[in-house]
This record gives sequence, structure tokens and C-alpha cells, in this order.
Amino acid sequence: MRILGISAFYHDSAAALVRDGQIVAAAQEERFSRRKHDARFPRHAVSYCLEREGVPLEAIDYVVFYEKPFLKFERLLETYLAFAPHGLRSFAMALPLWIREKLFQRKLLRNALRGFGPGFDFEGRLLFAEHHLSHAASAYYPSPFAMNQAAAVLTMDGVGEWATTSAAMGRGNRLEVLREIHFPHSLGLFYSAFTYYAGFRVNSGEYKLMGLAPYGDPKYAGLIRDRLIDVKEDGSFHLDLDYFDYCTGLAMTNRRFEELLGAPRRPAEGKLTQHYADVAASAQAVVDEIVVRLARSLAAETGAEALCMAGGVALNCVANAKVLRDGAFRRLWIQPAAGDAGGALGAALAGFHLYAGGPDRPGGLSYCGSDGMQGAFLGPDFAQPEIEQRLRNVGARFTVLPEEALLDSCAAALDRQQVLGWFQGRMEFGPRALGNRSILADPRQAAMQSELNLKVKFRESFRPFAPAVLREDVSDWFEFEGDSPYMLLVAGVAERRRRPLTEDERALKGFDALRAMRSEVPAVTHVDYSARLQTVDRETNPRFHALLSRFKQRTGCPVLVNTSFNIRGEPIVCTPEDAFRCFMGTRIDWLAIGDCLLRKEEQDASLQSNYAATVAPD
Ligand SMILES: [Fe+2]
Repeated sequence: MRILGISAFYHDSAAALVRDGQIVAAAQEERFSRRKHDARFPRHAVSYCLEREGVPLEAIDYVVFYEKPFLKFERLLETYLAFAPHGLRSFAMALPLWIREKLFQRKLLRNALRGFGPGFDFEGRLLFAEHHLSHAASAYYPSPFAMNQAAAVLTMDGVGEWATTSAAMGRGNRLEVLREIHFPHSLGLFYSAFTYYAGFRVNSGEYKLMGLAPYGDPKYAGLIRDRLIDVKEDGSFHLDLDYFDYCTGLAMTNRRFEELLGAPRRPAEGKLTQHYADVAASAQAVVDEIVVRLARSLAAETGAEALCMAGGVALNCVANAKVLRDGAFRRLWIQPAAGDAGGALGAALAGFHLYAGGPDRPGGLSYCGSDGMQGAFLGPDFAQPEIEQRLRNVGARFTVLPEEALLDSCAAALDRQQVLGWFQGRMEFGPRALGNRSILADPRQAAMQSELNLKVKFRESFRPFAPAVLREDVSDWFEFEGDSPYMLLVAGVAERRRRPLTEDERALKGFDALRAMRSEVPAVTHVDYSARLQTVDRETNPRFHALLSRFKQRTGCPVLVNTSFNIRGEPIVCTPEDAFRCFMGTRIDWLAIGDCLLRKEEQDASLQSNYAATVAPD
């Protein structure tokens, strides 16, 4: 049985294909269309999924959309009417476009899908899963706990139809929703409001707010708890809507919010002062507390030992690590595509297990590595002859090397502080690059952090980088045991790897503090000694594991900086051509694509472009 899942029309459209419960393919539309957070119908992603499986749409048993458009329409309508001015003359005229679009989504979907298979019979085969059920299914079914034991499931995001938070329980292949928190009370929108207030873009700048928080002091956390959000012992919460404007769809926060925090909203690209870092730290502290309380109450209620999480808030690796450390659950697994793109996968899995009846026999799912996500390497790949052809077509100069020689050259370049574009195998599903579409660098120099931010990624200098570390060496370098394959947990750098600061370094204030040599791997050590960790194991990513091992052989350090292969505002590269363009437009020194190795100095200089000018910053 084949099921196609689709998420679309809000942000991060995606498609996923599941065959008999196994994930065959999943990809976000933005990677193909090159439009960040592309929300249009994911025609390229659907096309990729069908091609990967080698079937037309007619061979698909069910298409499952990741939310219920009519319920969402109802929520938008009710909210709009509740806040609309009195005396509307024409009801229909007054409905904003975004509400009308929701109403016609079913038709939009049918029309778009028809192009893939004119013979597809929509009757009974186009299904709609609830938004949070899609998130919950994406968290539970691919987790290491499904089919063998039970697991509790927590989903948290901005909003779907009505739910913004849901608690569920998975047993075998059943998944039961226990309770929900409804719009307008939303942890995702709460965090987005602070993202907006700090001058970052909502639905994409939340990561920046999280990266900003360690520079601040959570001195507004008490005020936020007193005035903005009432948090109960069980983690349920209630927002005071006098301070938030998202119900009208115009802005996230208002003047009262600014007055309460004592300063106006930072304009985009305005100066990032200590105030905004303190606000970020405060919002993060409150979110940490809520997520931990939600997890604790769910553990007490269900008695489960394992927790699965998804929804955009589950991308908050700081809060995730707090949940793990709190210990209410012994084990934690987070869907790497935790945002709405992952809803496509969840919708397909929900369709299979909850609608179509699931596997014929218990335990009918098999796992590769530690879970069903195959390392999140679910996107397109390119065979070696195709890579060479595509590179020749764009005028690239490259050599083809046997694996050992390729690894040696790459490890040597990294050791010389050169920056390496690393493009191997299938593209990642989800917002993080996990070693198949990555930019890699040596973490042992503090200067590498600002070098990468300014010359390669063209992004704000305060933003930290994440380490990829050999799975077997993780506890030697970080205060962490076990797996963090998807870069969704932070952990402290191990005490023995830390370095006392010099007097000059201690004097560094604000964002300059990031320049201090805090550890043996300063380029991935945040100012609070935390690192957003990715463990790399031999089974799920053999070639990346081999490169890390080679780097360790040379240097004694099993850690590399791993940042996504793109620049600020751009989707992660998908094809060899995308990678070559990004390579030529930035200060990346080397590029390895499959067995091809490219060196910047050897390229035709006329192919260099003002790459950053072609991408709008996010
Ligand atoms: Fe969502």
C-alpha cells in the first residue's frame, strides 16, 4: 500500500511517500523551487516522491493532506469575526483573502494533483488528517519506541486548526489523543511573538532568538509569567491577549507588550542591544519551564517511559535538552522534520496506521539505524556519472578520487582551516543539514565562527555553530551520552575540554564574548558552554563518519563544525548545480560532491557571482 502525504498552503510545503508503513521519500518544496519556506502546492516534491518510487499517481492508494481545511477555516472565521469591527456591510467582501483561500483548499488540492494522474480517483482516496495528529504521527511511528512498546507524544506548534498543543499516547500502531490546548493560547505563537519583538522574522527567525538567549539574563521571566502567560502546574497555559495582536493577523505584539518590556520592538536589522538578549533569555526560560511541566504531567498521566515530540516548538533544542535532563521520561525522540514539513510525513503515516489499518503483522515496521527515519536522508541523490555530467555542464573543474584519497584531501584541507562544502547521498528532510548537504570546518579556532558567519553564510555574527561529533566519542567531548542524530538537543562541552578564560577574554562584553577560546572546540562552544549537538554514527551516515574519523586521526579531534549548505535566506542546496553556485559565490575553499573534488583556486573566476545579492536575507 502506497500513501502520499502532503503539507501545503501555510509554510514549508512538503511531500512524503510511505510504502507499507516504510518511509520511501520525503522532501520540502523550497529545496526544488529555491524559495525559502515555499508554501505553494509542493509539485516538485510530489513529483520527486513519485519518481523515487517509480509510479504514477494512479498507483497511490491514498493521498493524505496534513490538516483539515474546513476546521481551519472555521477557526480563522471565528477569530476574525470576534475581532472584526462592528457594522460590516458585506460579510463576504470583508473576509480576508487568506480565509477564502482556506475554504477552497480541497479544490486547489484536487486541481494540482490531477496534473500528476488524470486517472486518479479522488472518491474516498483524498483524506485529511488533523494537523496535530499529523505531527503526533510523525513523532510516534518513526520513533524507536513504536511497535515495541508504548510512548507518550507531545506536539507543540503555532497553530493548526484549533489545537496548538496536544498530548497523545501511542501503543502498538494505535495513537490516541488525550488532550489539547486550543488557539489563541499557543506556545509557538508565544515564542514567535518574542521572535517578532526581537526584530527577526516569524516562522524562520525563532532559531535566532534561541541562539541569542545565552547572551542574556532572564530578568524579564518573572514579569512574563505575571503578565503575559499564566502557567499551571501541569504545564497548561493561558495567554493574556491584551498584549498580543496575532488574532487580527496584522502583527504579533502591540504597544502594551512594548511598554511592559520597556523598549520598542527592534526594527529588522536594527542594533541588537543587551535588552533584546535579555528578553530572548527570558522567553526561553519561560518556554523551558512550560515544556518541562507538560512533559512531567504527561509522564505522570501515562506512566510511559518514552516521549516523542514534534511540532515547530520541538525544534527548540534548549527546551528539549531540559526535558531530557529533567528525567520524567527515560528516553526522548524528536522528529527531525518537527515543523509543518514533517506534517506531510505524519499525515501519510496516520493514513497508513489509523485509516488503512496498519501493518498486517505486529512489529511490521523495520528500522534502519536507531529509528525509522534513515538518518532523515529521504531526499534526492545523484549517481556519480550524473554528478560529473551536471558539473561539466556548469563549467566546474574537478577531479574524481577514490574514497580514501577524497577523505584524505578533505581532512587535510579542514586541518588547514579551509572550509569544505560536503554534498553526499540523499538530501536531508527537515531544517537541519546532517552531513549530506553541509558546510564543514575546523572547530578548534575561535575565529572560525565569525569567519563562517561573515564570509560564507553572510549572516549575523552572533549566531553560534553546531558540532558534528563521532557517536562513539560524544561523552569524551560533551556532557552527553547516547544519540542526538538530528541536532535537536544542546549539551554542555565536557569539563575537561573547557579552557579557563584569559583576563582579556573575560573582559569581552556582549556578542564579542563569543570570540573567547572557551574550549578546545571554541567555534562550536556558545557563551554558556552549550553546543547544539549532532552525533554521527557509522550505520546511518558511513561517509560522514569516515571523514570525521579521518579528521580525528590527523588532529585528535572527532568534531567538525556542521552548518547547512546555503547562505542566509536561502534554502539548503538540493542539486550539484545549487552546490556549485553557492561554492562559487562564497568563501568555501573546497567542494566534495560524491567522488568529485573541486578546489576554488582551480575554478574559472568568471563563474563567480555576487551570490548574496541574489538571495533576500531572512
Ligand atoms: Fe504545525
